[in-house]
Amino acid sequence: MSEGTAKGFGEKPQPKKEERRKFQAIKGTRDLVPPETALWTRVEQTAQEVFTAYGFGEIRLPIFEQTDLFARSIGLETDVVSKEMYSFEDRDDTSVSLRPEATASVCRAYIENGMQQLPQPVKLYTFGPMFRRERPQKGRYRQFYQIDAEVLGGSEAPGIDAELIEMVMAFFGRLGLEGVDLDINCIGDKKCRPKYVELLRQELRKVKDKLGPDSQRRIETNPLRVLDSKLENEQKLIEEMPHIGDHLCEECAENYRGVKKELELRGVKYRENWRLVRGLDYYSRTTFEITAKGLGSQNAVCGGGRYDGLMELLGGPPTRATGFAIGEDRLILSLQEGGKTPLAQGRDVYIAWMGEKAYATSVRAAKNLRAAGFSVELPPVEQKFGKAIGQADKLGARYALILGDNEVVSGEWTLKTLATGEQAKFSEATFLEFLKKHG
Ligand code: HAM
Repeated sequence: MSEGTAKGFGEKPQPKKEERRKFQAIKGTRDLVPPETALWTRVEQTAQEVFTAYGFGEIRLPIFEQTDLFARSIGLETDVVSKEMYSFEDRDDTSVSLRPEATASVCRAYIENGMQQLPQPVKLYTFGPMFRRERPQKGRYRQFYQIDAEVLGGSEAPGIDAELIEMVMAFFGRLGLEGVDLDINCIGDKKCRPKYVELLRQELRKVKDKLGPDSQRRIETNPLRVLDSKLENEQKLIEEMPHIGDHLCEECAENYRGVKKELELRGVKYRENWRLVRGLDYYSRTTFEITAKGLGSQNAVCGGGRYDGLMELLGGPPTRATGFAIGEDRLILSLQEGGKTPLAQGRDVYIAWMGEKAYATSVRAAKNLRAAGFSVELPPVEQKFGKAIGQADKLGARYALILGDNEVVSGEWTLKTLATGEQAKFSEATFLEFLKKHG
């Protein structure tokens, strides 16, 4: 017998008072609690409905993957890979990381599950937490949530990009998101972009001394990212830089014209933004970002674009692909700023019971009502009538079902409408009918 069992649970030494500590959620993480979670559920259900209507199916992915999958996809020089990943050695000495995004995993899963054999394109969506060690602030967390959608395989028809953008705009429209602006750009492909990047590098080198340290470093590592700079004193210089739109190859330019035409056909309003380059390396051709109201400096609620070369980079067959990810935390923040708070999660019925016989009837009534889809609160111990009604009010219940031993004997149940104070009597048989009609 081990020492632990011999001693027994009750005799376990208790920590001294000063040793007891309160735990707090780790910086950059937070709890999502009711009633806010009702809004999260509604957002996710709406996404499911809208995405399903566009032919997307759900994929569920692991939360950690080999570090190399992200390094290769997102790019070693990006902020995400170079400083923001949560990486650790697994038992067999492989380095694994908590996923900072979902696109790389979706591509791995597409290859691993032989999805190139399915009718193309394959349209997938996924929800869940992502992890980036960023400086936390409003709308920026270390554990945050994305709603991600990807279209894998198929042709380069501009209708694919446009339909994807139409879908996310329709989703935001269905939620009533306010102040939504869509920015689009074409960043070329592996044929034309390298020439533009070199030209940009040369032009940036000419003004290097006037740029801050981050931009100076990026001139060599990734000059496109300089275009992303928000620093006030760099704006004028950046505006003078050559525009990618003037350096696209004919195929990319033609494709971009097609995407814009397709967006117009679908009534999707967009703004062209030649400085929209995105922070991850895998993009080519059409990229886009969507901003919404009330988010301060972290106002991008969705980012995405085409990534035609990624599948090959991960050892798969040449596969065209495009997708987006919505920052769900930011989406919720913006909905709340716009007054779209969830309705308080009130109960339909609070059962105010008194007496032992009434309790047995109440347990049965609660079970039947719940089975019929009503939300019911059944207090586990008897309460005084006044207290029960007060509690029902606090919980936002619509009705109180009043059951005392008299009601049980007479078979006449009393239902009180809490908003008006009206009371009515029902037999057990007619009670459920009434609620179904009016509840
Ligand atoms: P991303 O731009 O890195 O793209 O992230 C997409 C969205 O996730 C952002 O617009 C933002 O709303 C949200 N987000 C990112 N980081 C944070 C954070 N620390 N806290 C809160 N929200 C955040 C991607 O992740 C790509 N995988 C999108 C994609 C899918 N491209 C093609 N397919």
